[in-house]
Amino acid sequence: MPAIEVHDLTKRYGARTAVDTISFTVDEGEIVGFLGPNGAGKTTTLRVLTSFQPASSGSARVAGYDVFSQGVQVRENTGYLPESTPLYTEMRVFKYLWYRATLKGVARRERRAFIESAMERCDIVDVRDRIIGHLSKGYRQRVGLADALVHRPRVLILDEPTAGLDPNQVRDVRDLIKEIAGETTILFSTHTIPWVEQVCERVIVINRGRIALDGTLSGMRERVAPWARVEFRTSMDARPALDVVHAAPSVIFAENLTVGERTMLRYLTEKSNLARSRELVAAGLASSGGTMEDVKVVDAVVEDLFTKLTRGSEQAVEVRA
Ligand SMILES: Nc1ncnc2c1ncn2[C@@H]1O[C@H](COP(=O)(O)OP(=O)(O)OP(=O)(O)O)[C@@H](O)[C@H]1O
Ligand SMILES: [Mg+2]
Repeated sequence: MPAIEVHDLTKRYGARTAVDTISFTVDEGEIVGFLGPNGAGKTTTLRVLTSFQPASSGSARVAGYDVFSQGVQVRENTGYLPESTPLYTEMRVFKYLWYRATLKGVARRERRAFIESAMERCDIVDVRDRIIGHLSKGYRQRVGLADALVHRPRVLILDEPTAGLDPNQVRDVRDLIKEIAGETTILFSTHTIPWVEQVCERVIVINRGRIALDGTLSGMRERVAPWARVEFRTSMDARPALDVVHAAPSVIFAENLTVGERTMLRYLTEKSNLARSRELVAAGLASSGGTMEDVKVVDAVVEDLFTKLTRGSEQAVEVRA
């Protein structure tokens, strides 16, 4: 039985469809990155999966329980780190975790041991008697993680666990996730591919409320392997220059990278058509009196696929990489 099962889930806020008939499953013990740009529908999905808000239609089961009719069981078996941690800021860390563990049904005789081990894992033993509201953002985030872990849930759902953390803290969270991997199923949301590449092998990309891609990182790497990324500067304005690039055959995706005065563009193309597309782009620019300068060609990376799927002019397509 999968740890998370989502079927045709839709969530509307009035006329706005935040999540649009999405389906996916996460198997027991898997770590899956839930990736998408701002407003894609990540938080909305995760809130439905943790029974914090109802969906408009569709169904979902987490840890074997129905998120609509068995919310209590879902919460007992799920650890949830919300996007903005609603911690009781006037409480002290240990007291707060005690309160939370009680709420989540951890038996009294096990409570202290569970809390101690959650605090150790999240490296907050030193601040156990501090008032939460006096802690730095990074420490508060760790308290939020300890809260998510404290009842030893079967499924962990983390909404941007590294948001607002410094690079050392990001590494700590990454190591923590790796440490609990295997014992727990983890679904976490993020904006950044590099982070996903460090902690998991499977990714679900959501864009405008729809699943744009569901597959493995190795599958994504294979998909970008035949692509090259070309960057160049031009004397033309970005918009007409982009039109020229888009008109060249075998250009997969183009975007404007201009910072400051000088237009800088990037496009993706098939390596097999690299020389030809470059000639055609240069010729197209020249026919409008534009230049093509400082050309740099590198291999495409997984991030390019993410950009194409979530920002590209092409319609995002559903694929199994
Ligand atoms: N309570 C709400 N009322 C109305 N619209 C909402 C509400 N919550 C979210 N939305 C809308 O639903 C869409 C998805 O939002 P959501 O917060 O799920 O995105 P997200 O992927 O988590 O984005 P981010 O990366 O910025 O956190 C957005 O268009 C957002 O404006
Ligand atoms: Mg969000």
